[in-house]
Amino acid sequence: MAKMLVCYYSQTGHTAGMAQAVAEGAKGVSGLAVDVQTVADVKVKDLLDYDAIVIGSPTYYGTMAWQIKQLLDESVAFHGKLSGKVAGAFTSSGNIAGGAETTILAILEALLIHGMVCQGTPKGGHYGPSAVGKMDDRARGECRDYGKMLAELTVKLHG
Ligand SMILES: Cc1cc2nc3c(=O)[nH]c(=O)nc-3n(C[C@H](O)[C@H](O)[C@H](O)COP(=O)(O)O)c2cc1C
Repeated sequence: MAKMLVCYYSQTGHTAGMAQAVAEGAKGVSGLAVDVQTVADVKVKDLLDYDAIVIGSPTYYGTMAWQIKQLLDESVAFHGKLSGKVAGAFTSSGNIAGGAETTILAILEALLIHGMVCQGTPKGGHYGPSAVGKMDDRARGECRDYGKMLAELTVKLHG
């Protein structure tokens, strides 16, 4: 069975809620097991065990929180070993146009450098889901749809 990790950092719970919604969407797809973990509980070598890695961070000064960057920097230990896995990213920011897209793209840039595969979407958040503060119904729907889309891609590539 293919495996997805939804890994996140969240100080006040908003990104954590999004992580659960992404996982809910992914869990609806058969042939995939989904783990949701805070970044503090993820050891960098755990990344090798997954076919899909979806990362959530609050937007901090237009980019990811240092806890997520630390995991990504540590992942250099496995440079080349994550190639072909499915990548995804999501964020909660304080403001509309507060840097959500730059945060998502910064995470995806690192995962693309690993050789991972990411999928955009022609509707909603094109690069990945974002919420302003706590997820509203729109953001919840985007997170669920995103989890489902990436789960289907993962099963297609790795199932
Ligand atoms: C250090 C710090 C930097 C932040 N920088 C931004 C920012 O650049 N743009 C923005 O819109 N919100 C910014 N925020 C607000 C957070 O992105 C927002 O509160 C988010 O919902 C927190 O997510 P969490 O509940 O998962 O921790 C910042 C918050 C902190 C603590």
